[in-house]
Amino acid sequence: MEKFKNFINGQWVEPKTNKYFKNINPADIRDIVGEFPESGQEDVNDAVKAANEAYKTWKMMPAPKRGDIIRKVGDIFARRKDEIARIMTREMGKPVFETKGDIQEAIDTAYYAASETRRLFGHTVPSEMMNKMNMSFRTPIGVCGVITAFNFPIAVPSWKILPALAAGNTVVYKPSKDVPQAGVVFAEVMIEAGIPAGVFNVVLGKGNMGNMIVEHPDVNLIAFTGSTNIGFKLGEICGRTNKKCSLEMGGKNAQIIMADANFDLAIEGVLWGAFGTTGQRCTATSRLIVHKDCYEQIIKILAEKASKLRLGPGLDEKTEMGPVIHENQLQTCIDYVKIALDEGGRLVTGGNRATKGDLANGYFFEPTIIADITKDMRLFQEEVFGPVLAVAKAESFDHAIELANCSDFGLSSSLYTKNVNDAFKAIRDLETGITYINAPTIGAEAHMPFGGVKGTGNGHREGGWTVFDIFTEWKTAYVDFSDELQRAQIDNYDE
Ligand code: UN1
Repeated sequence: MEKFKNFINGQWVEPKTNKYFKNINPADIRDIVGEFPESGQEDVNDAVKAANEAYKTWKMMPAPKRGDIIRKVGDIFARRKDEIARIMTREMGKPVFETKGDIQEAIDTAYYAASETRRLFGHTVPSEMMNKMNMSFRTPIGVCGVITAFNFPIAVPSWKILPALAAGNTVVYKPSKDVPQAGVVFAEVMIEAGIPAGVFNVVLGKGNMGNMIVEHPDVNLIAFTGSTNIGFKLGEICGRTNKKCSLEMGGKNAQIIMADANFDLAIEGVLWGAFGTTGQRCTATSRLIVHKDCYEQIIKILAEKASKLRLGPGLDEKTEMGPVIHENQLQTCIDYVKIALDEGGRLVTGGNRATKGDLANGYFFEPTIIADITKDMRLFQEEVFGPVLAVAKAESFDHAIELANCSDFGLSSSLYTKNVNDAFKAIRDLETGITYINAPTIGAEAHMPFGGVKGTGNGHREGGWTVFDIFTEWKTAYVDFSDELQRAQIDNYDE
């Protein structure tokens, strides 16, 4: 069995703990992907030390030169797309057409971040004084700890790592314990692109190893994607240690279907939004809110179509929906179905572990739809992160918006309607960072701000130009060329 290493200071190194963990293919648990380092404090220390040292020279490299390396990262991901997609599918389960999309998102991010190194605009502003110039520009922050979830093993880390590097920071990266090989692949791509030693480091591990990165005094910033539970804890540490911290956490995203919508389109949208990536996206459609005039009709067609989705290993080209990531996730799905039915939900399709034939070897769960969910029920409020869709009935457009907003989360939302006024009201009134009109709740593009309000985030936006607000600080400079002391606020205003 292949034994993998950490990537620290430009070298592949064994963990100083000398401990390893096995990772399995969730579509077939007999298939062991490999053994990966279960790193500890010393490994984290080594990586942070290397990143800290490398920062001194990396930040001095002209940004467009850093951009040249990042552009190559995009080129290499493009060249290796098919091969990496298959590695990722084996490791985390989603079908190859989805893992290819995941890598494409990283390619898009690489090209965007590389081009941004020729902008990274600052401001020049008039001074209050004669012969004085004021300016502000972005500066890097230092060593960034990047901690990510399993569901987008290449795209989501790329959203953080590539802009962080473009801006002149260095990185210590810990991928999810469920997709450690994606971390290894990321390092391979970086090496080929010519990243200098120490600028990018990968430390693999599980358990509280992420905390060691967050607690480390020489780590200046934390960028995290994962559960709300863990995010809040990391945020507490960052508050105590005064680190900049960007948190991208859970969602309970609603799609609304009004009676005037194109039903075929809306149903296609729910199927993709709720069951794409087996419902394991922070942007997944986990609540469907349907206007009362089309409620039963939509449920009937949707249930029929969902029950026909082809489950299977993601490496099989016919597969439409892969497994969930691990046994705990499977159990979570089972638990939430029970909770929802006990609370009065109506099961319209699915609801069970799928065990037909070879599916019994993996963590497969049927696409599940539970109707008549009201806002006080747990399935309406709590994130499942699996293929379990809650359906609720709305009496009117305003009621639909009210229901959608009745959530502790606020990442993504969607409205299907042909009414232009309702569409604009929804864009204004839905309390989410992202709203889609006549498109599902998933499908963010790399060059647009991405993030959520309420319990989903802490005010940052990845993606697009806004990601540089996370990974840079502003430096303000005043240049006085008057050759005399000019006292701001005093000399230039008469009493
Ligand atoms: C995530 O689930 O963490 O918009 C990210 C989307 C994808 C990214 C999802 N482009 O669903």
